[in-house]
Amino acid sequence: MRTQFCGLVDERLVGRTVTLCGWADTRRDHGGVVFVDLRDHEGIVQVVAEPDNAAAFAEASKVRYEYCLRITGTVRARPAAQVNDKLATGKVEVVAGTVEILNAAAPLPFMLHETPGEEARLKYRYLDIRRPAMQKAMRTRIRLVSALRHYLDARGFQDIETPVLTKATPEGARDYLVPSRVHPGEFYALPQSPQLFKQLLMMAGMDRYYQVARCFRDEDLRADRQPEFTQLDMEFAFVGERDVQDFVEGMIRHVFREVAGVDLGDPFPRLTYAEAIRRFGSDKPDLRIDLELVDVAEHVRHVEFKVFSAPANDPAGRVACLRVPGGAEMTRKQLDDLAPYVARYGARGLAWIRIDDLAKGREGLTSPITKFLDDRALEGIFEATGAATGDVLFFGAGSWKTVSDFMGALRLKVGRDLGRVADGWRPLWVVDFPMFEFDPAAKRHVALHHPFTAPKVDDAAQLAADPANAVSRGYDMVLNGNEIGGGSIRIHRPEMQSTVFDLLGITRHEAELKFGFLLEALKYGAPPHGGIAFGIDRIAALMVGTESIRDVIAFPKTASATCLLTAAPSEVPEPQLQELHVRVVRPKKD
Ligand code: AMO
Ligand code: AMP
Repeated sequence: MRTQFCGLVDERLVGRTVTLCGWADTRRDHGGVVFVDLRDHEGIVQVVAEPDNAAAFAEASKVRYEYCLRITGTVRARPAAQVNDKLATGKVEVVAGTVEILNAAAPLPFMLHETPGEEARLKYRYLDIRRPAMQKAMRTRIRLVSALRHYLDARGFQDIETPVLTKATPEGARDYLVPSRVHPGEFYALPQSPQLFKQLLMMAGMDRYYQVARCFRDEDLRADRQPEFTQLDMEFAFVGERDVQDFVEGMIRHVFREVAGVDLGDPFPRLTYAEAIRRFGSDKPDLRIDLELVDVAEHVRHVEFKVFSAPANDPAGRVACLRVPGGAEMTRKQLDDLAPYVARYGARGLAWIRIDDLAKGREGLTSPITKFLDDRALEGIFEATGAATGDVLFFGAGSWKTVSDFMGALRLKVGRDLGRVADGWRPLWVVDFPMFEFDPAAKRHVALHHPFTAPKVDDAAQLAADPANAVSRGYDMVLNGNEIGGGSIRIHRPEMQSTVFDLLGITRHEAELKFGFLLEALKYGAPPHGGIAFGIDRIAALMVGTESIRDVIAFPKTASATCLLTAAPSEVPEPQLQELHVRVVRPKKD
């Protein structure tokens, strides 16, 4: 139907006849001449319909936004004054010979030139994706996946598909379930990840595995979380953590260079989990922000102010200070607005000291709390933080976890609000995670990675003796404050796996029901193995420079897990439910 792409028509084609297909990006009438900007996936070219070609002129006059057109015409150079430097095709235009309307378009729900609202974008996704920004985002993601595949195919990795109708794998979210028609009352679970299958593939002697795998997790959604998302899932036999880390670090460096033209640096720095929480209040620190937390408990242990002294004297407590150079420029309102912000992360308050003039002593400070702090405490804090005139010091006090969480969130918020996010790319590894985390709601230990992650100790009895302090062989790759990948060396011996299930409060019976096949497989000479999975959506979003992974997913879901385009999920006819042996209990409306 066409001889050229619109976006690729240039001076070399001057004098030639071309046939183009695409959409009317705009149509303008100018003193008896009609201009149509014709757009396809490569870009835009200007078409001119002149009145001396009556048929073409008449058709072009009918054209409205997003009409689908086929145009044959002659390429001619534009006069110097009319050259458009903003368009790749701006030196030329196409004089219409014939204009064919392949399909008209109804009045649009939004203008493609503007950034439409999210709801409209998702409902009319096929129009949204016509926009050049989305075309670019989609194509970046495609190049990313292609570059990853090439890299792995060339290095002996086997691309193996694993089941989507399967048994639950615990990755910490709820499962999506699929009722079985042939087994009444039984369900498949959609995989939260291919975790157990990839481990079985190592036991099956496949040696190196990868898959671009869809994962399904029923969890609270955010800008960086979708109910179905895509992992680059990988597993290696006969490796230690450095083997996996070094390999995938090289791979990530390669794809960023190739797809985004970005040099991530070599090697990626490593931070232990403990250090990341201590300095940044997060296990996925954004190193582009140059603010750090400083522990000041030792300087406030003796003070009367219980808000500080109680956690300072509690081994499970934390008193942390965030020094913000230039923070004194923040208005009182800006400061006051931060307390409700950190309250969302569990803070009961947010104390601060503004240093208007350090030389003036107490006179030079503004703060709701300095009256509670003696000189010794103030001097200790100032010295520990390196405080200076013009700073604001923020304080968080309470349990170690809560303070770390809200001070970490504060660090990000203040860093962004005050423009302290440096340009560029700051990848890192976070290592030495605890094996277990205590879940106060469930009153039991949960796995920080997943229950198949190996501990650093080799001996199951040693692990069982002190699980609270056990360190795992897990690792995360973090880029600009995003967890882009996570993995571990796995347990490859049945005794250790059983011990970990025990420590997680999974009964022998339950373990047998859920993971009997894994425990069985571990008995037959399972090799040491390990791997990692990367969030493709997150990496693509970073490369595109968008906040939301929805911008790099063709048909994403909303924050409430609905598809506005197809209106999924939806009710199904009663006979279909009966066939599946399912009865719906509707929540009572109040
Ligand atoms: P994990 O749960 O850390 O590990 O997932 C790996 C990576 O997947 C991405 N990710 C998500 N992206 C979008 N939406 C979500 N809901 C979502 N959840 C996770 C993140 C994350 O780093 N089986 C293990 C991997 C392993 O141990 O090898 C796993 O799934 O970028
Ligand atoms: P209060 O004694 O509750 O009036 O608090 C005095 C000051 O300490 C106020 O500025 C509070 O915002 C602050 N504050 C209270 N609780 C905390 C906390 N857990 N961490 C940091 N600051 C707090």
